[in-house]
Amino acid sequence: MTGTDFPVRLVLGPMTAPPDAADARGVSRRAFLKSAVAIGGSAALAACLDRESVDVPRGPEAPGAAGYPARQHAWNDVLARDDAGNAVQPRHHVLLLLDYGPDGEPTDADRTEMEEAFRSLERAYERSHEGLLLTASYAPAYFERFGDSLPSSVDVPDPEALAPFEDPDLDTPDALVHLASDHAKVVLGAEEALRGETDERNGVSVRALPDALSVSERRTGFVGAGLPADNQDVIGVPDSEPVPEDSPLYMGFKSGFEGNQASEDRVTIGEGPFAPGTTVHLSKIRLNLTQWYEQDDRYQREAKMFCPHHAKNDTVEGVGENLGTDTGMDDCEAPEESARNDGVVGHSQKMAAVREDDGPLILRRDFDSTDDGEAGLHFLSLQSSVSAFVETREAMNGSDISEDSAVGQRTNNGILQYMNVKRRGNYLMPPRSLRALPPAAPGEN
Ligand code: HEM
Repeated sequence: MTGTDFPVRLVLGPMTAPPDAADARGVSRRAFLKSAVAIGGSAALAACLDRESVDVPRGPEAPGAAGYPARQHAWNDVLARDDAGNAVQPRHHVLLLLDYGPDGEPTDADRTEMEEAFRSLERAYERSHEGLLLTASYAPAYFERFGDSLPSSVDVPDPEALAPFEDPDLDTPDALVHLASDHAKVVLGAEEALRGETDERNGVSVRALPDALSVSERRTGFVGAGLPADNQDVIGVPDSEPVPEDSPLYMGFKSGFEGNQASEDRVTIGEGPFAPGTTVHLSKIRLNLTQWYEQDDRYQREAKMFCPHHAKNDTVEGVGENLGTDTGMDDCEAPEESARNDGVVGHSQKMAAVREDDGPLILRRDFDSTDDGEAGLHFLSLQSSVSAFVETREAMNGSDISEDSAVGQRTNNGILQYMNVKRRGNYLMPPRSLRALPPAAPGEN
């Protein structure tokens, strides 16, 4: 396939570093693997292959529909679990934003080629966090090429700004491919295969995406204990290297507790031709953690991320492993009460107002990033309709609270002060059977 080139600039250290030890240049194995993913390209991959000596399990020889869930987003069964039983996101991620070049409807030949490319990756890598997790989603802009509109069972509008104080660029690619694995060499290897830069991965013959698809943008990231600390030499994190060594995210707390996530069932589209698919909201968020780490103290960080009750009672130890599978939001005061009495309201505390059957509406699969040399977060969330995301995000704005109390539009208002949304995009993630260039009205052609 054709695609934009990305710079390949990699200084290689000794290849024999033991796991997680710093090598002679002070580059730990973890930091090296993350930066290899951020840089990308064949030199980065070759270096990973040397450093990451782990054997990656292959998938089945004939990855047809059988044995694969109809939902592309059915990852939870094949994710790692932490000691408390929470699903743990894969450690390395690549997002490819793709454009389909030709005008008009995609050809069947391109559909077949795209599906073949995905199946070849499924042969090369087991569908799990140890192998490769892969999804393909499509933006509203993609569906404009069809005479039919999307069915009413699908709610995926064009992206828009979602707060009075933000001015994001709006993404309009045709498709979004998400590659995730615990191994950097797998996401890089899968990307190379899709770009047509290799015909073999993990001992298996692989196929490229069709030439009609080109990569307009690539985004990368990581999540998991150690990776943010190893990669804190970026704009947005102060030079004092404040990110805790065991934190899975730059802000110093663990996220994604089972009790604070929507289930895969909840985020699945229940009816119509795109059932059992889901919708994706992807924002690119820039973090500025100077005040977070240099002026705020532990009490303030805990109050702003969780709630004042948790800060007063030292509920959260370290990054929050002690919380088990739930952040105990029932113990927090009502957000208005915290704003009135404590002058601060927590991020989780505000979000907990948007729940159904005691669970959030969105399933967060976000990860940190060093793209553009800045500390960032690719906030990728799944929900049955984009309006569920919008509702959740409105709660995060806390506009009512800031109107009626000392809490500002962004100051002391959860974590709003430390983040800046640079881009937003919405996508439909069809079921697996429609993952390759789907029509807007399946079953009617
Ligand atoms: C820098 C960005 C962010 C960080 C570091 C962050 C971190 C966290 C943390 C630590 C929690 C509590 C524990 C858990 O995750 O299970 C949480 C909860 C949550 N966050 Fe965020 N978050 C961020 C941005 C967002 C955004 C942009 C949204 C969506 C609008 C969001 C939605 C939620 C929801 C829905 C919950 C669960 C609330 C509940 O329990 O009902 N977060 N977040």
